[in-house]
Amino acid sequence: MERIQSALAKARSARDRKLQTGTPAADSGPWQELAEIRPDQMLLARNRIVTRNPGKNAASFDVMRTNLLRALRANSWTRVAVTSPTPGSGKSTVALNLAFSLARLTDKRVLLVELDLRRPSLSGILGLSDVPQFATRLREGQLDMTQVRRVGSNLALALSGTGVTSPAELLSAPRTADLIDALEARLRPDVILFDMSPMLVSDDALAFLDQVDCALMVAAAEETTVAEIEKCGKDLAMRTQVLGVVLNKCRYMEDEESRAYSD
Ligand SMILES: Nc1ncnc2c1ncn2[C@@H]1O[C@H](COP(=O)(O)OP(=O)(O)OP(=O)(O)O)[C@@H](O)[C@H]1O
Ligand SMILES: [Mg+2]
Repeated sequence: MERIQSALAKARSARDRKLQTGTPAADSGPWQELAEIRPDQMLLARNRIVTRNPGKNAASFDVMRTNLLRALRANSWTRVAVTSPTPGSGKSTVALNLAFSLARLTDKRVLLVELDLRRPSLSGILGLSDVPQFATRLREGQLDMTQVRRVGSNLALALSGTGVTSPAELLSAPRTADLIDALEARLRPDVILFDMSPMLVSDDALAFLDQVDCALMVAAAEETTVAEIEKCGKDLAMRTQVLGVVLNKCRYMEDEESRAYSD
C-alpha cells in the first residue's frame, strides 16, 4: 500500500514538473516590443495583489494555478474567462493574482485581457498613470500593440482604461473575435485570462463567452447567494466549460485549508 502511495506521489510530482517546463520563456520579438511596466509592490499589496513573489499569501493562488494549468493542458485550452454572478466579488483581484502567479513560472507566457468594459479597474489596481486603451482601439477595428503592456518577460496586459459604450455589442462583434485571435497569434501565450463583467447584471460577459475555452466563477463568501451561483453556473454552462467556483473574501478558514505549502 505504501509503495503504491509513494509511486503515485512520484508520478504526481513528475507531472507537476512537466507542467512547469512547457514552452520556452518569451524573450524575443513581439514581447520585447511591448512597453514594460513595473508596478509598485506596496500598492499591489494594498490592493490585495499578493502573488508577485512566492510565499504564504500566494500559496492558495499557486494551487489554483496548478489546477488550472492541468485542466488547460488536458484539454488543449488556453482561454479562461474570470467572471462572477454579481459585481464586486473579486474577479479583477483574482484574475490579476492568478496572472502574476502563472507568470512566476518563467517558461509560461501569460496574457491578461481586461474585458470588463463597464467598470475597468486593472489600471487603477496596478497604479498606472499612463492608462492603456486596448478596448477603445478594438472598437476602431485595430489591434494596437502599443496599448499592451508587459511585466517582466512573460506577462502581457491588454488593459482597457476607460469604459466603452455598448460593451456587449463590441464584445460580440466578429471583428473583436478576429482581433483577439490576432493578439493570441502574435504573442502565443500559454494562458489567456479574460477579466469579465459580472454575469447577472448585463449580457456583456455572455456576449464574449463563445470566444473562451472555459470559465472560472468568483463568488464572494457571505455575499453571493446559492441561487446566484446556480443561475450564473447555468448561464455559463450553456456557452462554455465551467472550471469551478473560487470562493473569495472568506473571513474564516479551517487550519487545513489555510495552511500554506511554503510553511
Ligand atoms: N479576498 C478578499 N478579501 C477582502 N477584500 C477583497 C478580496 N478580494 C477582493 N477584495 C476587494 O473587493 C473589492 C472588489 O474587488 P474586485 O474589483 O477585484 O472585484 P470585481 O468582481 O472585479 O468587481 P467589479 O464587478 O466591479 O469588476 C476591492 O476593493 C478588492 O480589494
Ligand atoms: Mg472587476
